Amino acid sequence: MYNETDFNLEAPVQEPDRQYYYIEQCRKLVQDIEQKKGRRLKACVNTFGCQMNARDSEKLIGILKEIGYEMTEEEDCDFVLFNTCTVRENANTRVYGRLGQLKNYKKKNPQMMIALCGCMMQEPHVVEKIKTTYGYVNLIFGTHNIYKFAELIYNSFQSERLLIDIWKDTDKIVEDLPNERKFPFKTGINIMFGCDNFCTYCIVPYVRGRERSRNPKDIVREIKRHVAGGVKEVMLLGQNVNSYGKNLEEPVTFAKLLEEVEKIDGLERIRFMTPHPKDLSDDLIEVMRKSKKICHHIHLPLQSGSTKLLAKMNRKYTKEQYLELVAKIKERIPDISLTTDIIVGFPGETEEDFNDTLDVVRQAEFDSAYTFIYSKRTGTPAALMDDQISETVVKQRFDRLLALIQDTSSRLTAKRVGTVQRVLVESMNEQDETLVTGRLENNSVVHFAGDESMIGGLYDVKLLEAKGFYYMGERV
Ligand code: SAH
Ligand code: SF4
Ligand code: F3S
Repeated sequence: MYNETDFNLEAPVQEPDRQYYYIEQCRKLVQDIEQKKGRRLKACVNTFGCQMNARDSEKLIGILKEIGYEMTEEEDCDFVLFNTCTVRENANTRVYGRLGQLKNYKKKNPQMMIALCGCMMQEPHVVEKIKTTYGYVNLIFGTHNIYKFAELIYNSFQSERLLIDIWKDTDKIVEDLPNERKFPFKTGINIMFGCDNFCTYCIVPYVRGRERSRNPKDIVREIKRHVAGGVKEVMLLGQNVNSYGKNLEEPVTFAKLLEEVEKIDGLERIRFMTPHPKDLSDDLIEVMRKSKKICHHIHLPLQSGSTKLLAKMNRKYTKEQYLELVAKIKERIPDISLTTDIIVGFPGETEEDFNDTLDVVRQAEFDSAYTFIYSKRTGTPAALMDDQISETVVKQRFDRLLALIQDTSSRLTAKRVGTVQRVLVESMNEQDETLVTGRLENNSVVHFAGDESMIGGLYDVKLLEAKGFYYMGERV
Protein backbone atom coordinates (compact mmCIF):
# COMPACT_ATOMS: atom_id res chain seq x y z
CA MET A 1 0.00 0.00 0.00
CA TYR A 2 2.63 2.49 1.13
CA ASN A 3 5.39 1.63 -1.36
CA GLU A 4 3.03 1.21 -4.25
CA THR A 5 1.81 4.81 -4.15
CA ASP A 6 2.86 6.58 -7.34
CA PHE A 7 3.71 10.10 -6.32
CA ASN A 8 3.48 11.55 -9.80
CA LEU A 9 -0.23 10.86 -9.82
CA GLU A 10 -2.95 12.81 -8.10
CA ALA A 11 -3.67 12.12 -4.44
CA PRO A 12 -5.44 8.78 -4.01
CA VAL A 13 -9.00 8.92 -2.70
CA GLN A 14 -8.68 5.85 -0.48
CA GLU A 15 -7.40 6.09 3.10
CA PRO A 16 -4.81 5.56 4.42
CA ASP A 17 -3.10 5.67 0.97
CA ARG A 18 -4.08 9.29 0.57
CA GLN A 19 -2.24 10.24 3.76
CA TYR A 20 0.88 8.31 2.75
CA TYR A 21 0.81 10.31 -0.48
CA TYR A 22 0.71 13.56 1.49
CA ILE A 23 3.42 12.38 3.88
CA GLU A 24 5.65 11.94 0.83
CA GLN A 25 4.72 15.37 -0.54
CA CYS A 26 5.42 17.01 2.82
CA ARG A 27 8.72 15.16 3.07
CA LYS A 28 9.85 16.80 -0.17
CA LEU A 29 8.83 20.24 1.11
CA VAL A 30 10.63 19.73 4.41
CA GLN A 31 13.77 18.55 2.60
CA ASP A 32 13.69 21.67 0.39
CA ILE A 33 13.44 23.98 3.39
CA GLU A 34 16.17 22.08 5.20
CA GLN A 35 18.49 22.51 2.24
CA LYS A 36 17.81 26.23 2.08
CA LYS A 37 18.33 26.69 5.81
CA GLY A 38 21.26 24.30 5.97
CA ARG A 39 19.89 22.58 9.08
CA ARG A 40 17.29 20.03 10.21
CA LEU A 41 13.72 21.21 10.90
CA LYS A 42 12.47 20.57 14.41
CA ALA A 43 8.95 19.98 15.70
CA CYS A 44 7.46 20.00 19.19
CA VAL A 45 4.13 18.49 20.27
CA ASN A 46 2.66 19.49 23.61
CA THR A 47 -0.19 17.46 24.98
CA PHE A 48 -2.84 18.58 27.44
CA GLY A 49 -5.55 16.34 28.90
CA CYS A 50 -6.18 12.64 29.17
CA GLN A 51 -4.70 9.36 27.87
CA MET A 52 -6.80 9.67 24.71
CA ASN A 53 -4.99 12.86 23.86
CA ALA A 54 -1.65 11.33 24.80
CA ARG A 55 -2.34 8.47 22.38
CA ASP A 56 -3.48 10.89 19.65
CA SER A 57 -0.22 12.79 20.14
CA GLU A 58 1.79 9.61 19.62
CA LYS A 59 0.03 9.22 16.27
CA LEU A 60 0.61 12.87 15.34
CA ILE A 61 4.29 12.61 16.27
CA GLY A 62 4.48 9.47 14.12
CA ILE A 63 3.31 11.52 11.13
CA LEU A 64 5.66 14.44 11.87
CA LYS A 65 8.61 12.06 12.05
CA GLU A 66 7.64 10.36 8.78
CA ILE A 67 7.55 13.80 7.18
CA GLY A 68 11.13 14.33 8.32
CA TYR A 69 10.91 16.57 11.36
CA GLU A 70 13.28 15.97 14.24
CA MET A 71 11.31 15.99 17.50
CA THR A 72 12.26 18.36 20.33
CA GLU A 73 10.85 19.41 23.70
CA GLU A 74 11.60 23.08 22.95
CA GLU A 75 8.69 25.18 21.73
CA ASP A 76 11.20 27.55 20.11
CA CYS A 77 11.35 25.47 16.92
CA ASP A 78 9.95 25.13 13.37
CA PHE A 79 6.63 23.38 13.99
CA VAL A 80 4.67 23.55 17.23
CA LEU A 81 1.50 21.57 17.78
CA PHE A 82 -0.66 21.91 20.89
CA ASN A 83 -3.03 18.98 21.40
CA THR A 84 -5.57 20.65 23.67
CA CYS A 85 -8.07 19.64 26.36
CA THR A 86 -11.21 21.45 27.47
CA VAL A 87 -12.54 19.21 30.24
CA ARG A 88 -12.02 21.95 32.85
CA GLU A 89 -11.48 25.68 32.41
CA ASN A 90 -7.89 25.61 33.73
CA ALA A 91 -6.91 23.34 30.81
CA ASN A 92 -8.00 26.12 28.44
CA THR A 93 -6.25 28.83 30.42
CA ARG A 94 -2.96 26.96 30.17
CA VAL A 95 -3.25 26.66 26.40
CA TYR A 96 -3.88 30.39 25.95
CA GLY A 97 -0.92 31.16 28.21
CA ARG A 98 1.45 29.03 26.20
CA LEU A 99 0.08 30.31 22.92
CA GLY A 100 0.92 33.85 23.98
CA GLN A 101 4.55 32.84 24.47
CA LEU A 102 4.79 31.38 20.96
CA LYS A 103 4.33 34.85 19.47
CA ASN A 104 7.88 35.85 20.40
CA TYR A 105 9.34 32.70 18.90
CA LYS A 106 7.49 33.32 15.68
CA LYS A 107 8.82 36.89 15.49
CA LYS A 108 12.33 35.44 15.49
CA ASN A 109 11.45 32.66 13.05
CA PRO A 110 8.60 33.88 10.76
CA GLN A 111 8.47 30.55 8.91
CA MET A 112 7.56 28.78 12.13
CA MET A 113 4.29 26.82 11.84
CA ILE A 114 1.86 26.83 14.75
CA ALA A 115 -0.92 24.24 14.80
CA LEU A 116 -3.69 23.55 17.31
CA CYS A 117 -5.83 20.46 17.60
CA GLY A 118 -7.74 18.44 20.18
CA CYS A 119 -10.90 18.88 22.20
CA MET A 120 -10.77 22.66 22.71
CA MET A 121 -10.82 23.20 18.95
CA GLN A 122 -14.21 21.48 18.69
CA GLU A 123 -15.72 24.49 20.47
CA PRO A 124 -16.68 27.29 18.06
CA HIS A 125 -16.12 30.05 20.66
CA VAL A 126 -12.51 28.90 21.07
CA VAL A 127 -11.83 29.00 17.33
CA GLU A 128 -13.36 32.49 17.18
CA LYS A 129 -11.08 33.67 19.97
CA ILE A 130 -8.00 32.26 18.24
CA LYS A 131 -8.96 33.90 14.96
CA THR A 132 -9.31 37.29 16.60
CA THR A 133 -6.59 37.21 19.25
CA TYR A 134 -3.91 34.82 18.03
CA GLY A 135 -3.58 35.70 14.34
CA TYR A 136 -0.20 34.03 14.05
CA VAL A 137 -1.63 30.49 14.26
CA ASN A 138 -1.34 28.58 10.93
CA LEU A 139 -3.54 25.52 11.32
CA ILE A 140 -6.50 24.42 13.44
CA PHE A 141 -8.07 20.98 13.27
CA GLY A 142 -10.27 18.94 15.58
CA THR A 143 -10.57 15.54 17.19
CA HIS A 144 -12.27 13.74 14.30
CA ASN A 145 -9.73 14.30 11.54
CA ILE A 146 -6.32 13.81 13.13
CA TYR A 147 -5.68 11.04 10.59
CA LYS A 148 -5.57 13.83 7.96
CA PHE A 149 -2.65 15.60 9.64
CA ALA A 150 -0.22 15.11 6.73
CA GLU A 151 -2.73 16.47 4.21
CA LEU A 152 -3.46 19.43 6.48
CA ILE A 153 0.23 20.23 6.90
CA TYR A 154 0.67 20.07 3.13
CA ASN A 155 -2.23 22.46 2.52
CA SER A 156 -1.01 24.74 5.27
CA PHE A 157 2.44 24.93 3.67
CA GLN A 158 0.73 26.16 0.47
CA SER A 159 -1.28 28.84 2.20
CA GLU A 160 -0.46 32.14 3.87
CA ARG A 161 -3.72 32.15 5.76
CA LEU A 162 -5.01 30.32 8.80
CA LEU A 163 -6.34 26.93 7.72
CA ILE A 164 -9.26 25.54 9.74
CA ASP A 165 -10.66 22.04 9.31
CA ILE A 166 -13.07 20.96 12.01
CA TRP A 167 -15.71 18.28 11.70
CA LYS A 168 -18.77 18.16 13.93
CA ASP A 169 -18.70 14.38 14.17
CA THR A 170 -17.61 11.34 12.20
CA ASP A 171 -18.36 7.67 11.79
CA LYS A 172 -14.97 7.10 10.21
CA ILE A 173 -12.08 5.17 11.75
CA VAL A 174 -8.89 5.13 9.64
CA GLU A 175 -6.52 2.25 10.43
CA ASP A 176 -2.85 1.66 9.65
CA LEU A 177 -1.33 5.12 9.84
CA PRO A 178 2.23 5.67 11.14
CA ASN A 179 2.35 4.54 14.71
CA GLU A 180 4.85 6.16 17.02
CA ARG A 181 5.15 5.27 20.74
CA LYS A 182 6.42 7.46 23.55
CA PHE A 183 7.76 4.44 25.47
CA PRO A 184 9.19 1.37 23.74
CA PHE A 185 7.57 -1.02 26.24
CA LYS A 186 4.06 0.34 26.81
CA THR A 187 1.36 2.12 24.87
CA GLY A 188 -2.28 3.11 24.91
CA ILE A 189 -4.62 1.44 22.43
CA ASN A 190 -7.85 3.13 21.42
CA ILE A 191 -10.62 0.57 21.49
CA MET A 192 -13.38 3.10 20.99
CA PHE A 193 -13.85 6.78 20.35
CA GLY A 194 -16.41 9.31 21.59
CA CYS A 195 -18.96 9.06 24.38
CA ASP A 196 -22.76 8.76 24.51
CA ASN A 197 -23.25 9.10 28.25
CA PHE A 198 -23.79 12.84 28.52
CA CYS A 199 -23.00 13.26 32.20
CA THR A 200 -24.46 16.72 32.74
CA TYR A 201 -21.17 18.41 33.77
CA CYS A 202 -19.09 16.94 30.96
CA ILE A 203 -18.01 18.45 27.65
CA VAL A 204 -16.44 15.26 26.27
CA PRO A 205 -19.51 13.96 24.34
CA TYR A 206 -19.73 17.34 22.57
CA VAL A 207 -16.08 17.47 21.56
CA ARG A 208 -15.37 13.78 20.94
CA GLY A 209 -18.61 12.90 19.20
CA ARG A 210 -20.72 9.77 19.25
CA GLU A 211 -19.45 6.45 20.50
CA ARG A 212 -17.77 4.20 17.92
CA SER A 213 -15.87 0.99 18.57
CA ARG A 214 -12.96 -0.35 16.61
CA ASN A 215 -13.20 -3.81 15.18
CA PRO A 216 -11.71 -6.40 17.60
CA LYS A 217 -9.58 -7.80 14.76
CA ASP A 218 -8.01 -4.38 14.11
CA ILE A 219 -7.32 -3.93 17.83
CA VAL A 220 -5.65 -7.34 18.17
CA ARG A 221 -3.65 -6.78 14.98
CA GLU A 222 -2.43 -3.42 16.25
CA ILE A 223 -1.43 -4.84 19.65
CA LYS A 224 0.42 -7.73 18.00
CA ARG A 225 2.37 -5.24 15.93
CA HIS A 226 3.34 -3.27 19.06
CA VAL A 227 4.30 -6.48 20.89
CA ALA A 228 6.52 -7.49 17.99
CA GLY A 229 8.19 -4.09 18.45
CA GLY A 230 8.86 -4.66 22.17
CA VAL A 231 5.66 -3.61 23.94
CA LYS A 232 4.91 -5.48 27.19
CA GLU A 233 1.98 -3.47 28.52
CA VAL A 234 -1.08 -1.99 26.83
CA MET A 235 -3.75 0.30 28.21
CA LEU A 236 -7.07 -0.15 26.40
CA LEU A 237 -8.66 3.28 26.09
CA GLY A 238 -12.26 4.44 25.88
CA GLN A 239 -14.50 6.94 27.70
CA ASN A 240 -16.65 4.03 28.82
CA VAL A 241 -14.99 0.73 27.96
CA ASN A 242 -18.00 -1.17 29.32
CA SER A 243 -20.04 -0.18 26.30
CA TYR A 244 -17.31 -1.35 23.91
CA GLY A 245 -18.55 -3.32 20.91
CA LYS A 246 -22.28 -2.74 21.37
CA ASN A 247 -22.70 -0.99 18.04
CA LEU A 248 -20.44 -3.18 15.92
CA GLU A 249 -22.02 -5.15 13.09
CA GLU A 250 -21.19 -8.26 15.07
CA PRO A 251 -21.52 -7.05 18.67
CA VAL A 252 -18.72 -8.03 21.09
CA THR A 253 -18.48 -7.35 24.82
CA PHE A 254 -15.53 -5.70 26.53
CA ALA A 255 -14.98 -8.88 28.58
CA LYS A 256 -14.73 -10.87 25.33
CA LEU A 257 -12.27 -8.38 23.84
CA LEU A 258 -10.09 -8.72 26.96
CA GLU A 259 -10.06 -12.49 26.51
CA GLU A 260 -8.84 -12.06 22.95
CA VAL A 261 -6.14 -9.59 23.97
CA GLU A 262 -5.03 -11.93 26.77
CA LYS A 263 -4.18 -14.57 24.14
CA ILE A 264 -1.52 -12.41 22.51
CA ASP A 265 1.85 -14.08 23.08
CA GLY A 266 4.54 -11.82 24.48
CA LEU A 267 2.08 -9.31 25.89
CA GLU A 268 2.52 -9.30 29.67
CA ARG A 269 0.22 -6.70 31.10
CA ILE A 270 -3.19 -5.31 30.23
CA ARG A 271 -4.76 -2.21 31.72
CA PHE A 272 -7.94 -0.39 30.73
CA MET A 273 -9.54 2.99 31.24
CA THR A 274 -12.27 4.01 31.95
CA PRO A 275 -15.07 1.68 33.02
CA HIS A 276 -18.35 3.35 34.02
CA PRO A 277 -19.80 2.00 37.28
CA LYS A 278 -23.32 1.84 35.79
CA ASP A 279 -22.55 -1.13 33.57
CA LEU A 280 -19.49 -2.95 34.89
CA SER A 281 -20.47 -6.56 34.22
CA ASP A 282 -19.97 -9.72 36.28
CA ASP A 283 -18.33 -11.17 33.17
CA LEU A 284 -15.68 -8.46 33.29
CA ILE A 285 -14.93 -9.17 36.97
CA GLU A 286 -14.70 -12.87 36.19
CA VAL A 287 -12.34 -12.33 33.23
CA MET A 288 -10.15 -10.14 35.44
CA ARG A 289 -10.15 -12.69 38.24
CA LYS A 290 -9.02 -15.49 35.95
CA SER A 291 -6.58 -13.48 33.88
CA LYS A 292 -2.83 -13.73 34.25
CA LYS A 293 -2.23 -10.46 32.43
CA ILE A 294 -4.93 -7.97 33.38
CA CYS A 295 -3.66 -5.74 36.19
CA HIS A 296 -5.68 -6.00 39.39
CA HIS A 297 -6.49 -2.33 39.28
CA ILE A 298 -9.78 -0.66 38.40
CA HIS A 299 -10.19 3.06 37.95
CA LEU A 300 -13.86 3.47 38.84
CA PRO A 301 -14.96 7.10 38.73
CA LEU A 302 -17.36 7.91 41.57
CA GLN A 303 -17.89 11.65 40.83
CA SER A 304 -20.14 12.01 43.90
CA GLY A 305 -21.34 9.85 46.76
CA SER A 306 -24.74 11.52 46.90
CA THR A 307 -27.56 9.67 45.16
CA LYS A 308 -29.34 12.99 44.63
CA LEU A 309 -26.32 14.56 42.92
CA LEU A 310 -25.55 11.41 40.94
CA ALA A 311 -29.05 11.69 39.45
CA LYS A 312 -28.47 15.37 38.63
CA MET A 313 -25.17 14.36 37.04
CA ASN A 314 -26.95 11.68 34.94
CA ARG A 315 -24.56 9.00 36.21
CA LYS A 316 -27.28 6.30 36.39
CA TYR A 317 -26.21 4.67 39.68
CA THR A 318 -26.89 5.37 43.35
CA LYS A 319 -24.56 5.60 46.33
CA GLU A 320 -25.67 2.11 47.39
CA GLN A 321 -25.20 0.59 43.94
CA TYR A 322 -21.67 1.99 43.76
CA LEU A 323 -20.81 0.55 47.19
CA GLU A 324 -22.35 -2.82 46.30
CA LEU A 325 -20.26 -2.93 43.14
CA VAL A 326 -17.09 -2.14 45.10
CA ALA A 327 -17.94 -4.87 47.64
CA LYS A 328 -18.55 -7.39 44.85
CA ILE A 329 -15.26 -6.58 43.12
CA LYS A 330 -13.31 -6.83 46.39
CA GLU A 331 -14.95 -10.12 47.27
CA ARG A 332 -14.05 -11.72 43.92
CA ILE A 333 -10.62 -10.09 43.49
CA PRO A 334 -9.32 -9.53 47.04
CA ASP A 335 -6.03 -7.90 46.00
CA ILE A 336 -7.78 -5.39 43.70
CA SER A 337 -6.70 -1.83 43.92
CA LEU A 338 -9.31 0.83 43.27
CA THR A 339 -8.81 4.41 42.20
CA THR A 340 -11.40 7.03 41.34
CA ASP A 341 -12.34 10.52 40.13
CA ILE A 342 -14.40 12.86 42.30
CA ILE A 343 -15.94 16.24 41.53
CA VAL A 344 -16.40 18.72 44.38
CA GLY A 345 -18.89 21.57 44.16
CA PHE A 346 -21.33 20.31 41.52
CA PRO A 347 -24.35 22.69 41.41
CA GLY A 348 -26.64 22.14 44.38
CA GLU A 349 -24.08 20.20 46.46
CA THR A 350 -25.09 20.54 50.12
CA GLU A 351 -23.05 19.66 53.20
CA GLU A 352 -25.11 16.46 53.41
CA ASP A 353 -24.30 15.53 49.79
CA PHE A 354 -20.64 16.17 50.41
CA ASN A 355 -20.73 14.00 53.54
CA ASP A 356 -22.10 11.19 51.39
CA THR A 357 -19.03 11.52 49.18
CA LEU A 358 -16.76 11.34 52.23
CA ASP A 359 -18.70 8.32 53.41
CA VAL A 360 -18.18 6.43 50.14
CA VAL A 361 -14.49 7.36 50.16
CA ARG A 362 -14.20 5.93 53.69
CA GLN A 363 -16.01 2.71 52.80
CA ALA A 364 -14.55 2.05 49.36
CA GLU A 365 -10.94 2.65 50.45
CA PHE A 366 -9.42 4.00 47.25
CA ASP A 367 -5.70 3.59 46.67
CA SER A 368 -5.77 7.07 45.25
CA ALA A 369 -8.23 9.53 43.79
CA TYR A 370 -8.19 12.39 41.33
CA THR A 371 -10.22 15.20 42.84
CA PHE A 372 -11.55 18.03 40.73
CA ILE A 373 -13.28 21.28 41.53
CA TYR A 374 -16.42 21.47 39.40
CA SER A 375 -15.78 23.59 36.34
CA LYS A 376 -18.68 25.09 34.40
CA ARG A 377 -18.54 24.03 30.73
CA THR A 378 -20.53 26.13 28.26
CA GLY A 379 -23.06 24.00 26.41
CA THR A 380 -23.48 21.34 29.11
CA PRO A 381 -26.78 21.04 31.04
CA ALA A 382 -25.07 21.61 34.41
CA ALA A 383 -23.86 25.05 33.31
CA LEU A 384 -27.50 26.18 33.34
CA MET A 385 -28.35 24.69 36.74
CA ASP A 386 -29.19 26.95 39.69
CA ASP A 387 -27.24 26.78 42.94
CA GLN A 388 -23.71 27.06 41.62
CA ILE A 389 -21.57 26.69 44.77
CA SER A 390 -19.42 29.51 46.15
CA GLU A 391 -15.67 29.23 45.74
CA THR A 392 -14.92 29.38 49.49
CA VAL A 393 -17.25 26.50 50.30
CA VAL A 394 -15.85 24.41 47.46
CA LYS A 395 -12.28 25.06 48.50
CA GLN A 396 -12.98 23.98 52.09
CA ARG A 397 -14.70 20.79 50.97
CA PHE A 398 -11.92 20.07 48.51
CA ASP A 399 -9.31 20.29 51.27
CA ARG A 400 -11.34 18.04 53.58
CA LEU A 401 -11.71 15.44 50.84
CA LEU A 402 -8.02 15.57 49.98
CA ALA A 403 -7.04 15.02 53.62
CA LEU A 404 -9.26 11.95 53.85
CA ILE A 405 -7.95 10.52 50.59
CA GLN A 406 -4.33 11.05 51.58
CA ASP A 407 -5.01 9.36 54.88
CA THR A 408 -6.53 6.23 53.26
CA SER A 409 -3.94 6.24 50.55
CA SER A 410 -0.94 6.27 52.91
CA ARG A 411 -2.56 3.57 55.06
CA LEU A 412 -3.04 1.30 52.03
CA THR A 413 0.44 2.03 50.72
CA ALA A 414 1.95 1.06 54.10
CA LYS A 415 -0.14 -2.13 54.15
CA ARG A 416 1.65 -3.43 51.05
CA VAL A 417 5.12 -3.13 52.57
CA GLY A 418 6.63 -6.59 52.90
CA THR A 419 4.72 -8.04 49.92
CA VAL A 420 6.31 -9.15 46.66
CA GLN A 421 4.91 -7.44 43.56
CA ARG A 422 5.40 -7.77 39.83
CA VAL A 423 7.05 -4.62 38.49
CA LEU A 424 7.55 -3.29 34.96
CA VAL A 425 10.80 -1.31 34.89
CA GLU A 426 10.25 1.97 33.04
CA SER A 427 13.40 4.06 33.48
CA MET A 428 16.59 4.70 35.39
CA ASN A 429 16.07 6.61 38.62
CA GLU A 430 16.58 10.32 37.99
CA GLN A 431 18.53 11.02 41.19
CA ASP A 432 20.42 7.78 41.80
CA GLU A 433 22.01 5.94 38.90
CA THR A 434 22.24 2.65 40.81
CA LEU A 435 18.42 2.47 40.95
CA VAL A 436 15.71 1.72 38.40
CA THR A 437 12.12 2.95 38.56
CA GLY A 438 9.13 0.76 37.80
CA ARG A 439 5.43 0.42 38.31
CA LEU A 440 3.32 -2.08 40.23
CA GLU A 441 0.02 -3.42 38.91
CA ASN A 442 -1.80 -0.59 40.66
CA ASN A 443 0.46 1.92 38.89
CA SER A 444 2.37 2.89 42.10
CA VAL A 445 6.03 3.68 41.63
CA VAL A 446 8.88 1.65 43.14
CA HIS A 447 12.63 2.28 43.08
CA PHE A 448 15.10 -0.59 43.44
CA ALA A 449 18.68 -1.52 42.58
CA GLY A 450 19.22 -2.30 38.90
CA ASP A 451 20.67 -1.18 35.60
CA GLU A 452 19.66 0.08 32.18
CA SER A 453 19.34 -3.40 30.67
CA MET A 454 16.28 -3.98 32.87
CA ILE A 455 14.17 -1.22 31.28
CA GLY A 456 11.06 -2.75 29.69
CA GLY A 457 11.43 -5.98 31.71
CA LEU A 458 9.18 -7.42 34.42
CA TYR A 459 10.66 -8.37 37.79
CA ASP A 460 9.45 -9.58 41.18
CA VAL A 461 10.20 -6.93 43.74
CA LYS A 462 9.78 -6.98 47.51
CA LEU A 463 8.48 -3.68 48.86
CA LEU A 464 10.73 -2.64 51.73
CA GLU A 465 9.55 0.82 52.62
CA ALA A 466 6.65 3.14 51.79
CA LYS A 467 7.59 6.77 51.26
CA GLY A 468 4.40 8.71 50.69
CA PHE A 469 3.55 8.12 47.05
CA TYR A 470 6.27 5.61 46.22
CA TYR A 471 8.12 2.57 47.52
CA MET A 472 11.71 1.48 47.93
CA GLY A 473 12.15 -2.19 47.13
CA GLU A 474 14.54 -5.00 46.29
CA ARG A 475 14.53 -7.60 43.53
CA VAL A 476 13.79 -11.12 44.74
N1 SAH B 1 -15.00 8.97 30.81
C1 SAH B 1 -14.45 9.08 32.08
C2 SAH B 1 -13.81 10.39 32.44
C3 SAH B 1 -13.49 11.45 31.47
S1 SAH B 1 -13.10 13.03 32.06
C4 SAH B 1 -15.52 8.78 33.09
O1 SAH B 1 -16.67 8.72 32.82
O2 SAH B 1 -15.18 8.66 34.22
C5 SAH B 1 -12.09 12.73 33.46
C6 SAH B 1 -12.65 13.26 34.73
O3 SAH B 1 -12.74 14.67 34.69
C7 SAH B 1 -14.04 12.82 35.08
O4 SAH B 1 -14.09 11.56 35.66
C8 SAH B 1 -14.52 13.89 36.02
O5 SAH B 1 -14.21 13.56 37.37
C9 SAH B 1 -13.71 15.10 35.61
N2 SAH B 1 -14.56 16.10 34.99
C10 SAH B 1 -15.23 16.02 33.84
N3 SAH B 1 -15.91 17.16 33.61
C11 SAH B 1 -15.66 17.98 34.65
C12 SAH B 1 -16.09 19.30 35.00
N4 SAH B 1 -16.93 19.99 34.23
N5 SAH B 1 -15.61 19.83 36.14
C13 SAH B 1 -14.78 19.15 36.94
N6 SAH B 1 -14.36 17.91 36.66
C14 SAH B 1 -14.79 17.33 35.54
FE1 SF4 C 1 -17.82 12.55 30.37
FE2 SF4 C 1 -19.55 10.93 31.51
FE3 SF4 C 1 -18.66 10.40 29.04
FE4 SF4 C 1 -17.04 10.14 31.13
S1 SF4 C 1 -18.90 8.95 30.74
S2 SF4 C 1 -16.59 11.15 29.20
S3 SF4 C 1 -17.69 11.79 32.47
S4 SF4 C 1 -19.93 12.12 29.66
FE1 F3S D 1 -9.65 16.56 27.83
FE2 F3S D 1 -10.59 15.73 25.58
FE3 F3S D 1 -9.53 14.02 27.24
S1 F3S D 1 -11.51 17.25 26.86
S2 F3S D 1 -9.93 14.91 29.22
S3 F3S D 1 -8.48 15.65 26.25
S4 F3S D 1 -11.25 13.65 25.88
